[in-house]
Amino acid sequence: MVGAGISTPSGIPDFRSPGRGLYSSLQQYDIPYPEAIFELSFFFRNPKPFFTLAKELYPGNFRPNVTHYFLRLLHDKGLLLRLYTQNIDGLERASGIPASKLVEAHGTFASATCTICLRSCPGEDFWADVLADRVPSCRVCTGIVKPDIVFFGEPLPERFLLHVADFPMADLLVILGTSLEVEPFASLSEGVCSSVPRVLINQDVVGTFAWHPRGRDVVQLGDVVHSVEKLVKLLGWTEEMRDLVRRETEKVPRVNR
Ligand code: APR
Ligand code: ZN
Repeated sequence: MVGAGISTPSGIPDFRSPGRGLYSSLQQYDIPYPEAIFELSFFFRNPKPFFTLAKELYPGNFRPNVTHYFLRLLHDKGLLLRLYTQNIDGLERASGIPASKLVEAHGTFASATCTICLRSCPGEDFWADVLADRVPSCRVCTGIVKPDIVFFGEPLPERFLLHVADFPMADLLVILGTSLEVEPFASLSEGVCSSVPRVLINQDVVGTFAWHPRGRDVVQLGDVVHSVEKLVKLLGWTEEMRDLVRRETEKVPRVNR
């Protein structure tokens, strides 16, 4: 289970870190309160702030970091049952984790839907408008095109229901870079059997690790990259990680920021 804290090392702000999280830097967007930027009622009144933020988060501007590649290595070693992410930055896919292993619980920018005729349109269509500071409109009915990310109050993607089978089957739960503040995602942390170890890798103790700790919980506090590198060393995977990161970063053109 992961959240925005695994992407801050890639340069993407998280939501709630005091002072530097997105929710404390949205004053520039002329919105009544931070979460409004992800609320449908506000979006239909004024979609501009959301698309300004979307341009900031344009996936082409960022690259996966060691944390994403650690999760990719778990997959390569046949150890990753599923990766449940709240992130909409697409960096899990960019690290090479196949879509079949991913549950993007809060949706994705990879596709978009017309809010009037519900036509689906591929991401590249609307990014051209977003990067040109235009509100993307449907080619057919001129309705506003909204990326397929989950706004507050919207249902989660159907794939989220995979958790019903996945969590009881898991023999280890690793949670990285999330405040565990948003439901129903946060409650997944209670979904594994009581005998299954849960590992939290985060700046601070959050959610169920604070108010409902279990006997086999392990909490590793501090910077996520530092913690992951320590874990990789303990696992004896440092060489493999270095090779994987080198191979993957050589594939990607330099980011022209
Ligand atoms: N190393 C370790 N922990 C970090 C790092 C880092 N480099 N950067 C941030 N964190 C931690 C923060 O301390 C915080 O506990 O990651 C957590 C990020 O929490 P949030 O900002 O609340 O992000 P997230 O949990 O993903 O938010 C969940 O809220 O607004 C909605 O839809 C949005 O998906 C998002 C959801
Ligand atoms: Zn339309």
